[in-house]
Amino acid sequence: MPITVLVAYATRSGSTAEVAKAIGASLREAGITPQVRPMRQVESLQGPGAVILGAPLYIGRFPREFHQFMVRHHHVFAAIHPWCFVLGPARVEAADFEMARKQAEKQLARYRWLHPAELQIFGGKYDVKNLPYPYSLVLRIPFFPVNKIPPSDIRDWAAIKEWGLGIARQVKHAA
Ligand SMILES: Cc1cc2nc3c(=O)[nH]c(=O)nc-3n(C[C@H](O)[C@H](O)[C@H](O)COP(=O)(O)O)c2cc1C
Repeated sequence: MPITVLVAYATRSGSTAEVAKAIGASLREAGITPQVRPMRQVESLQGPGAVILGAPLYIGRFPREFHQFMVRHHHVFAAIHPWCFVLGPARVEAADFEMARKQAEKQLARYRWLHPAELQIFGGKYDVKNLPYPYSLVLRIPFFPVNKIPPSDIRDWAAIKEWGLGIARQVKHAA
């Protein structure tokens, strides 16, 4: 019987979705059947053998659909310990990663029923030209400092792949 792992993600401008798909590709490479879905499209958590949750940080918070997902599925989390990955830092600086971890831990702590197997912080993708609404509104403010932040994409695809393969090993070991 094939092992299925759900990768459910929230995203605003698409970079977390791309990381979720890359993790799905790692799982597939390791012989696991991935289901990569936006959180809004996940109806049940009871089928898959394991669950991975992904979300980006926006001013220290996860997108609203993460909260809605946690409330909608709260009854199953006593039996599920999901792996969690969070996108945020725009620079490869330890302080930025520590800050993102603190922000993510604070967000996850809002859900007393959630007991993650692991929390992984990945660097994010930032481009002022691609800001999601409502943040895009700041572009209308002349000389706003955020307009000067250079675009960056520090997603570490090798680390993302390795993280997915590590989860695959653990899931197969537990099966
Ligand atoms: C307006 C704005 C606010 C952000 N706030 C944070 C933050 O508080 N902490 C952090 O680590 N990253 C922050 N980021 C970086 C995003 O998490 C990063 O760009 C991520 O890759 C976006 O994911 P998405 O493309 O899936 O929406 C912010 C980005 C934007 C555009």
